[in-house]
Amino acid sequence: MRILALESSCDESAVAVLDERRGLLAHAIYSQVDLHQVYGGVVPELASRDHVRRLLPLVRQALADAGTGLDQLDGIAYTAGPGLVGALLAGAALARSLAFARNLPAVPVHHLEGHLLAPLLEDDPPPFPHLALLVSGGHTMLIEVRALGDYHLLGETRDDAAGEAFDKSAKLLGLPYPGGPELARLALQGRAGAHAFPRPMLDRPGFEFSFSGLKTAVSLAAKAQPLDDARRADIARGAQDAIVDTLLAKTGRAMAQTGLVDVVVAGGVGANLALREGLAALARRYHGRIYHPRIEFCTDNAAMIAVAGLLRLKAGGASDDLAIHARAQWPLFDLAAMTPTHV
Ligand code: KG4
Ligand code: ZN
Repeated sequence: MRILALESSCDESAVAVLDERRGLLAHAIYSQVDLHQVYGGVVPELASRDHVRRLLPLVRQALADAGTGLDQLDGIAYTAGPGLVGALLAGAALARSLAFARNLPAVPVHHLEGHLLAPLLEDDPPPFPHLALLVSGGHTMLIEVRALGDYHLLGETRDDAAGEAFDKSAKLLGLPYPGGPELARLALQGRAGAHAFPRPMLDRPGFEFSFSGLKTAVSLAAKAQPLDDARRADIARGAQDAIVDTLLAKTGRAMAQTGLVDVVVAGGVGANLALREGLAALARRYHGRIYHPRIEFCTDNAAMIAVAGLLRLKAGGASDDLAIHARAQWPLFDLAAMTPTHV
């Protein structure tokens, strides 16, 4: 089977072609970062319009790179949610229309399932069941992945997501959007312990997170003068350490309590090197393994939508109507389980 996939849930337009036997044949991405940078965050209306402009050329490019045509496809997958609804509609409408024109099945894909399944693109995919730490701009969740599509939530954030905490702290330090990677870069020059920010929820049992207090603490620290480069780096280091320590503590607790020591790290914050190093240490402690998608597939991309789409297609998950599915909100735990199979 061969599938084309489109991703447009936020500020990246992405297209990929995945072949069941030959693997990933092509993937193309256009990031709108420059477009939104002046506003300090994603402007939904601008994002939608840019997806409309970018997606079709990206489809052409990906098909050409893959050396394939629409007539050699078995289906077209698209991100149907959750995300910015106008942005989602741009991809969903194009994917559904292409599928209609070529009489192909259209497969609506859950964006977070895409993130969770991204490690299946690698040579040494994670076994099932496993634990997943899903850390993105909008979500922070610890999930027991029992089988494909069978996801059990252990705990999530009560307020801000981990990526949001990175982005908001970065903004308070005057770093450009998107702040996560910038804050991580600045933190490299900071001293550990110079700013000890709170690590909420650590003293409570369970797997919930809370990051909203961090921005208040960072904002207070950033108000003290002078806010020179050394001080900004120390604050960045303190903020990153607080976020990463919290994620590690809860992940370690989940490994201990569930006995699942194979851990998938998914979502944009999974690109963070301090988190990656901390998780590697956890894996050594619990004799487990950490599975990362390659860095470029941690953040939004269409290759992960293609994997999830291909597996859903094989499991009979194509939509059987002509509807263009786009859901701003879509709980991951609504998804029906799929019969275990491999890409
Ligand atoms: O998964 P993603 O690309 O988009 C969604 O939210 O779905 O995640 C984006 C988030 C942003 O908050 C970004 O700042 C954060 O991931 N991020 C990072 C790093 N790279 C991306 N945060 C910390 N360190 C990084 N290296
Ligand atoms: Zn994402």
